[in-house]
Amino acid sequence: MTSSGTPVVLGVESSCDETGFGIVSEGVLLGQGLASSASQHAEFGGVVPEIAARAHLESAVPTLHLALDDAGVGFGDITHVAVTSGPGLATAVHVGLAAAKAVAWAMDKPLFGVHHLAGHAAADTLEHGPLPDHSIILIVSGGHTSVLAVGDLVRDPIEHLGDTLDDAAGEAFDKVARVLGLGYPGGPAISRAAVGGDPSAYTFPRALLRPADAPFTFSFSGLKTAVARTVEKIERAGDAVPVADIAASFEQAVVDVLVTKALRAVRERGLQTLVIVGGVAANARLRAVAQERCDAAGIELRIPPPRLCTDNGAMIAAVGDLLVRSGAQPSGLGIAADPSAVLHGAQLPLLR
Ligand code: KG4
Ligand code: ZN
Repeated sequence: MTSSGTPVVLGVESSCDETGFGIVSEGVLLGQGLASSASQHAEFGGVVPEIAARAHLESAVPTLHLALDDAGVGFGDITHVAVTSGPGLATAVHVGLAAAKAVAWAMDKPLFGVHHLAGHAAADTLEHGPLPDHSIILIVSGGHTSVLAVGDLVRDPIEHLGDTLDDAAGEAFDKVARVLGLGYPGGPAISRAAVGGDPSAYTFPRALLRPADAPFTFSFSGLKTAVARTVEKIERAGDAVPVADIAASFEQAVVDVLVTKALRAVRERGLQTLVIVGGVAANARLRAVAQERCDAAGIELRIPPPRLCTDNGAMIAAVGDLLVRSGAQPSGLGIAADPSAVLHGAQLPLLR
């Protein structure tokens, strides 16, 4: 804490291809710095872990300084450090973890390991304030798709109502973008391509929506295959692929399933709030359809602004800030990377 007792938390994120540093104090984002190696992965159609790690190493110090300048604070003002210690690409996580440990050690400040997905959820608090006592959180990222029942994000255990059996929603966007020749990262490319397309031009499969299916479980690999088959068929016939219509119809299929299952969870739990977070939450169609259906159902919808949906350091600082204010024990300088950490709680390792 500062002499006034106010925490100023530095958050560090490096689990995939974004190097992020953010500074948060009592729920307020003071500033952030962000660098991305996405363009270096484009020719490979997906993130190459070694390239990502090297890029994090090159970007870490300049991006940290961007965050400090943006926040108008100096190193000496930082009271705590929080870092993504998992899940993510091992090589990439290690770089941010080493940077965070270096700052915490050099400045003699407490260090908190943070679960990356809890960071996505906490990002929303930077825009919309504290979460309600209970909510359903739909996490849709490049590696995860989960419906969670969440109480106090940093004090209570996080309950998984359902996850994906195969591809994550963002992974489906990335794979379909490849099929359509739209490049990496696929989500934003599909979004752009879908503008002006007809979302009802093709009826792609909506998996696991029958009454007998697991209510909150997802599967997107069949959808990806269906899109690939459709494109193959059109190409074999020698016709031009209607990219906008296919992109829009694919988006509609993903969004239908996501929103249907998330709203079902809100209703079943008797709750009033749905929070949608993660990179795919930046998708305009998802935001619009979710808003429409939540309005019709009288459910409050919270989605962070698009810049806070994709990976960034502010969201990790937001978790750190919540942990500090809840009196959590620091994780300590000895924390290890946990590349496949399951989300049971916001802090890693789980200390209580
Ligand atoms: O949360 P995130 O930045 O990283 C992970 O934790 O995985 O999510 C990245 C994923 C990628 O699959 C990317 O294609 C997708 O989010 N994404 C989008 C959009 N922006 C990013 N998907 C759909 N529409 C978007 N606008
Ligand atoms: Zn993420």
